[in-house]
Amino acid sequence: MKLVLGVGGGIAAYKAAELARALGERGCAVQVVMTDAAQQFITPLTFAALTQRKVITSLFSGQTSEETLASAVEHISVAQENEMLVVAPATADLLARFAHGLAGDFLTTMYLAFTGPVVLAPAMNTNMWNHPATRENLRILAERGHHIIEPGDGPLACGTVGPGRLAEPAVIADRVVSLGVAAASRDLDGETVLVTAGPTQELLDPVRYISNRSSGKMGYALAEAAARRGARVILVSGPVSLQAPAGVEVVRVRSAKEMRAAVFEHLEQATIIIKSAAVADYHLENVPKQKGKKTAARLSLELSPTPDILAEVGRVKGDRLLIGFAAETGDLLAEARRKMQTKNCDMVVGNLVNQEGIGFESEENEVSLVLSTGETVKLPRARKTEIAGKIFDQLLKLRLSLHAAR
Ligand code: PMT
Repeated sequence: MKLVLGVGGGIAAYKAAELARALGERGCAVQVVMTDAAQQFITPLTFAALTQRKVITSLFSGQTSEETLASAVEHISVAQENEMLVVAPATADLLARFAHGLAGDFLTTMYLAFTGPVVLAPAMNTNMWNHPATRENLRILAERGHHIIEPGDGPLACGTVGPGRLAEPAVIADRVVSLGVAAASRDLDGETVLVTAGPTQELLDPVRYISNRSSGKMGYALAEAAARRGARVILVSGPVSLQAPAGVEVVRVRSAKEMRAAVFEHLEQATIIIKSAAVADYHLENVPKQKGKKTAARLSLELSPTPDILAEVGRVKGDRLLIGFAAETGDLLAEARRKMQTKNCDMVVGNLVNQEGIGFESEENEVSLVLSTGETVKLPRARKTEIAGKIFDQLLKLRLSLHAAR
């Protein structure tokens, strides 16, 4: 794949050199474009050596008038010749300029002329990342369909601790490659995929609730993968702090009851339903209007079961593919099989939720797919985005087997 790597001016610019190398190792032809600020942090020579090609550093370059004229339209030819634009680090300034169409240098002019997929890997100080102006610019860019690779959390070069650290170069490179592959294959064109994600919150009084550790990462990865592969995606999301994936319709809910209503409202249109949400199993039926006082020495709650949305959908699913999840702490396969049969699913994605680094909250997962054909497919530990892609690969195969068996 031919791509442009735009490098913004920030401490993380040195990591863009590792990214250029990682992209090259994955078979990408990388054209580096540096902003003026980026050149304060790292030299063009480093990128030229890593990519074996000239680095673009300004809108007008060249010694002779002919060369200067050629460089004046270079931003258009570079935009036309490349299949993807990756910007890392995407500084707060670059995000603002992209969001508002300010085109004062090569990278921002080329951005306006570019029509392919755009991947932005932001890096900045935590307060800058959290600033309402940056949040608004990110919202605009995500709505425009750009892929935002969220920065990591931790100590930053400026001394603050929090979100803002550029995602690891290998992670960005893997994501770029999988986006490139997906952009080339639109095998979910014509499908409407309904995904549930995140936890539900069941109120105990106006200020307290019962919930669980689901971050929504697994469900959002599924929604993003389906949208990339051409599906219309409706994402019914419990309360999470993730950005909506590009091009996905998000319906925000809080409780199991609200999630059930949203699922049934959109069920008719769906051809594939994936229930990755961690729905609370119990709720308080009559939620008091006033905050409970801390008066009793002990407190007992009488809870009632929430609606089992997956089981209800299983009873009316018709020809739709229905995929449930099973979050287990033991007997993974037996439990996944039991859920598949009792809830009339076509596939159940079983994952262990008592192991470090997988399941709830983590970036990675390791799952066993139990299929209605009797097969079991194990997907080794990988990023949730990668697991999501493989789940769709298996789903499409499963649909073919189910059709052939009819
Ligand atoms: O969100 P992350 O932090 O990325 O974590 C991902 C995950 C661990 C939440 C996800 O991979 C996962 O396992 N989701 C299902 C969690 C769950 O509720 O599992 P369960 O075994 O309790 O439920 C089985 C199935 O029934 C699930 O598809 C669930 O959505 C569904 N269900 C459960 C209860 C209920 N009242 N209604 C339901 O539809």
